[in-house]
Amino acid sequence: MGEYIIEGNHILHGRVRIQGAKNSALPILAATVTTGKPCVIHNCPELSDVKSTIEILKALGCSVKRNGSSVWVDSSKLNNNQISDSLMRESRSSVIFLGALLSRTGEAVITAPGGCDIGVRPIDLHLLSIQKLGVSISEDCGKIRCKAEKMQGTKIALSFPSVGATENIILTAVHTPGVTTIINAAREPEIVDLSKFLNLAGAKISGAGESTIIIEGVENFRSVQYSVMPDRIAAATYMTAAAVTHSDIVLEDVVPNHLMPIIPCFEQSGCKIMQSGNKLRIIAPSELNSFESVRTMPYPGFPTDCQALITVLACVAKGTTYISENIFENRFKHICELNRLGADIVAHDRTIAVRGVKSLYGARVCACDLRAGAALTVAGLCANGTTVVGNIQFIDRGYENFSGNLKMLGAVIRRKD
Ligand code: EPZ
Repeated sequence: MGEYIIEGNHILHGRVRIQGAKNSALPILAATVTTGKPCVIHNCPELSDVKSTIEILKALGCSVKRNGSSVWVDSSKLNNNQISDSLMRESRSSVIFLGALLSRTGEAVITAPGGCDIGVRPIDLHLLSIQKLGVSISEDCGKIRCKAEKMQGTKIALSFPSVGATENIILTAVHTPGVTTIINAAREPEIVDLSKFLNLAGAKISGAGESTIIIEGVENFRSVQYSVMPDRIAAATYMTAAAVTHSDIVLEDVVPNHLMPIIPCFEQSGCKIMQSGNKLRIIAPSELNSFESVRTMPYPGFPTDCQALITVLACVAKGTTYISENIFENRFKHICELNRLGADIVAHDRTIAVRGVKSLYGARVCACDLRAGAALTVAGLCANGTTVVGNIQFIDRGYENFSGNLKMLGAVIRRKD
């Protein structure tokens, strides 16, 4: 139960290299089980969610070794297809092992996954979809027993473009005889990254990144080395830190396209964004303007994972901003914490009205989930005085060396465990 102690109002400067994407590394690590061959995953961030995924791989009988940002996984000696409830509860992405185990062993026993408390987060779309492929499912005392019966590729139309359900369908279908078509698939870049990894290993997936994905089942896979794409949400986090502290910094190792959904907000607030290759420079103005309204949507809409962050930007921008959260039903828990820092935010159902204030002031606040924790830390960077952010174990789930990177940029922040 650590905390960050932040002294606000220090201008940031210099460069920060963006970590590998958490939400890409996690499904790709699970997908190594599907291949059954030794794989090396490069640019794998050091996060607690990655640690729990590695624990699951080891519990399934895989050998795993980490060497810096590279993780070597050999799942050839897999000897288990059941994941304990405690390991399932560690993170949301534990559920992605469902598809990986089904394609590898034809069976999987899981329980409901954990993850940030931002809504009910059911897995009905995951289960309905794999049933269509021929998987039988029974539940008893919280255990969800899945068994591949007569597996056959088919057409699956998702009622919502769920990221996790799309990933589980892909992982099950890559080894299912016939052709599977996903209609209304999630289009997030992490889906593209997972598909690139699997295709490199011998899968036949086309259309990843679009709403219709076609997967032709294959028999065998090969060993691959793969480098995880940069984390677009981590990039957005450092951009917000620069904007609210009126700084000029450079982000290295970004994919400009992935940031297209959020750049307009920063530009409307008065920031200058310059991109060249995999670098992005953000120059913030001395005074930020509000940016009317933001609605979180599935990619390529405004990402829900940036909602708490853009709210911090709106807190200290001139004017009022309206932000609607359309993906998760309980993702405003950071509002009361931001108001403790002097923000002026009111919530009406799934929309908040953020009236910009001259400045925030330091206080003790508590992280309640990963992205809210990052947002509160960023708010502390621009608050007058000292801010203490508690429960930073939530932040450790998704940010590699977060306080170290902020310190390197000139922030006055220290971690107290
Ligand atoms: C992934 O979660 C990400 N997590 C989330 O990032 C991200 O916010 C989310 O996608 C949306 O982009 C990982 O990749 C590990 P969904 P996931 O299935 O797969 C409902 C972070 O901070 N739904 O697209 O769980 C669900 O309740 C995390 O890095 C069902 O109703 O997201 C939610 O309202 C937070 N039934 C909506 O769909 C289902 O079977 C979107 O969920 C599945 C989902």
